[in-house]
Amino acid sequence: MSEIISLRAIEILDSRGNPTIEVDCELESGVVGIMAVPSGASKGIHEAIEIRDEEKRYGGKGVNKAIQNVVGQIAEKVVGMDAINQAEIDNALIELDGTPNKSKLGANACVGVSLACADAQAIELEIPLYKWLGGVDACILPVPMLNIINGGMHADNNLDIQEFMLVPAGGKNFKESIRMGAEIFHTLKKILKAEGLSTGVGDEGGFAPNLQTNRNACELIVRAIEGAGYKPGKDAFIALDCAASSFYQDGKYIIEQKSLSSYELINLYEDWVNNFPIISIEDGLEEDDWDGWSELTKRLGGKILLVGDDLYVTNVERLEKGIELKASNAILIKPNQIGTLTETLKCIESAKRAGFKCIISHRSGETESTFISHLAVGSGTGLIKSGAPSRGERVVKYNELIRIEEELGEEAQYLGVDAFKL
Ligand code: PGA
Ligand code: ZN
Repeated sequence: MSEIISLRAIEILDSRGNPTIEVDCELESGVVGIMAVPSGASKGIHEAIEIRDEEKRYGGKGVNKAIQNVVGQIAEKVVGMDAINQAEIDNALIELDGTPNKSKLGANACVGVSLACADAQAIELEIPLYKWLGGVDACILPVPMLNIINGGMHADNNLDIQEFMLVPAGGKNFKESIRMGAEIFHTLKKILKAEGLSTGVGDEGGFAPNLQTNRNACELIVRAIEGAGYKPGKDAFIALDCAASSFYQDGKYIIEQKSLSSYELINLYEDWVNNFPIISIEDGLEEDDWDGWSELTKRLGGKILLVGDDLYVTNVERLEKGIELKASNAILIKPNQIGTLTETLKCIESAKRAGFKCIISHRSGETESTFISHLAVGSGTGLIKSGAPSRGERVVKYNELIRIEEELGEEAQYLGVDAFKL
C-alpha cells in the first residue's frame, strides 16, 4: 500500500510573477510527489474556479486560502488513502467540494493535490509518470504546436488573434520537429528585426509585434518557414487560437475594426484557410455560440481541426453537448480547467471515443512543472501546445519530451502530420 501520510502546500510564483500553489504529497515510504499549478489569463467562463485571497498582498492574488484548504479539509480526508487509487482520491475531492465548479475548495487546490498524488505514486512504483498515467505501452510523442506570435490577452500589441502557432509536424520524430521549430523561430526573429518590428516576447514566449492585420502574422510565419529552408504545408503548418470570447461583444465579433456575425467570421476564417497552410483553429467562436460552432464545423471540419478550449473547459458534460451538436472535431485539454486527473482522463477518453482529437495544453501562466509532457505521452493524444521554443517554463515541457523520446528509444512513435488526421 502507498499510504498518503501528509499533504503540504506553499505559495510560489508562476511565470508572470503571480502567486500560485505548489503541493507536496508524501507517502509512507518517504516518497514525495510534487505539483506546481499553472494559471490562465484568457480563462473560459465555464472553467472550474481558482481560489484567490482577495486581500492586499499580491494585489489580491495570494493563494493562502487554497493552501489552507489543502492542509486542512483536504488533508483530513486524503491522508490515510492509498495513492494507487487515483479515482478514489479524486472522487473524495469532488465530494468534499460538492460544487459543480470546485468553487468551495478551489480548482487550484484540487488539481495540485490530485496531480501531486499521481506524481508520488509513479515515484513509488519506480516508473516514469507517463507510464503510470498511460500504461506500459505509452509510447506516442506529441507533435508540438509552438505559439510563435502572441496577441490578444497574452501581449500588449494590436493583434486580435491570441496565438499564431507554428506546427513543424514534418520532423521524423519529436526532437527533429522541435529543431525545425526553433530554426523557424530564429528565422522569424531575423525577419522581424529586418523590418524594424519588435522582437520582445509575450506571455507564452512568442514574439509580440504590432502588425497591420492578422493575415500579416500568417504571412510572416510562411516567410519564416521558407527562410529556414522548409516547405509550408508539407514540413510545417500554422495553427491559430483565436480565443474569440475575448473579442466578442453584444452578439458580435469585433475583429480588425469590423463587427462581424458568426457567419461572417466563419467566411473570414475560410478565406484564411484557403490562403495559408492552416491545420487547426482553436476557439474560432465564443464559448456559448453553439450554432456558430456547428456551422464552422460543417464548413471547415473536413479540412482542419476545430478545437474547443473555452468552449469545453475539459468538462465532459460540455464535451458531450459538443459531440451531439457536431460543434467541433477536437478539444483542448487543461487539467486545471476541471480540477482532477480522473476527470481530465475521462474527458480525453470520451473525446477519443467520439473520434475527436485532443491537444494537451499548458496555461499562459506556467511553472517549471513537466506534468503535461507526461500527460501527453501517457494519453497518447499525439498533440501538445506549450508555447514558443523560448522562456524556461515553456521549454521545460519540450525538453522533458526530448528526454522521454530518448528514454523510449526504438519504442518511441511519432505520428507527424497524421496526428491531425480525423
Ligand atoms: P490561458 O490561454 O492559459 O491564458 O487561458 C491559453 C489558451 O487560451 O489556450
Ligand atoms: Zn485557447
